[in-house]
Amino acid sequence: MQPHPFYDRALLYDAAFSWDPAPEADFVAWGLRGGLPGAVRVLEPFCGAGRLLAAMEQRGFRAEGFDRNPAMLEVARRRAPRSRVVQADAAVWEAEAPYEGAYALIDSFRHLGMDAAATFLGALGRGLVPGAGFVLGLDLAEEDGVDGIPLASEERWTSSRDGLVVECVYRSTGPAGKRREWAEARLRVISGAPREEVVDHYVLTTWTWAQIEAALAAAGFRVRGVYDRRYDRDRPLTNRVGGVVVVAYSKR
Ligand SMILES: C[S@@+](CC[C@H](N)C(=O)[O-])C[C@H]1O[C@@H](n2cnc3c(N)ncnc32)[C@H](O)[C@@H]1O
Repeated sequence: MQPHPFYDRALLYDAAFSWDPAPEADFVAWGLRGGLPGAVRVLEPFCGAGRLLAAMEQRGFRAEGFDRNPAMLEVARRRAPRSRVVQADAAVWEAEAPYEGAYALIDSFRHLGMDAAATFLGALGRGLVPGAGFVLGLDLAEEDGVDGIPLASEERWTSSRDGLVVECVYRSTGPAGKRREWAEARLRVISGAPREEVVDHYVLTTWTWAQIEAALAAAGFRVRGVYDRRYDRDRPLTNRVGGVVVVAYSKR
């Protein structure tokens, strides 16, 4: 596996992403129960440091996760001791037993190239019981952008966990080939640990709304609605671009 400082330094990542997960978890719980009201056994692919696993357990789910980064999984196991988390690569993953729902937020899915994304969605479609919900968060490109490349964007925020204060700067830095863009992530320790800056560059796949809708349909998912990152279930989006959260159901 390639070094990936943004995730290999999981404690810094975890401090930077330590905001209250309740609005996201409430929304995911609503989306999953809209598919199967009695859903219990749910999966978080790309679970990272387990930010949402414990929150889903608190909402009555038995949440399992997988991620390919061992440092992130180590933090996830501490953060969500009741959840089963395993190391796996979404590009080759197959479900061991059927799940009653799945969710993947914060753009994690865009790490997969186009072929791997199709393979993963197919495996997920087979791994969910019919009617199960799938809540997917990702940044969508403009329909008429150059080759689906989103405009350069930057997000910057400061967050802390257990006295460790970290600034995160996340930028999209330009095209990296057909439907691929470069991203840059910087984590800077502000206080609570020796000052340092961790910089990572990696490639993400770009998706327009039409492309992700077609990929979901090909894997057997029907879209119920698209929302923004305010996680307001009463405000579905009509302009499907930028940071969105898709609620879909398995048709199989
Ligand atoms: C931005 S983090 C998001 C973590 C989590 N979804 C959340 O909401 O907090 C993305 C995660 O995806 C994982 N990841 C990237 N590519 C992957 C792959 N091919 N298979 C499994 N995990 C992967 C990374 O290791 C990282 O932990």
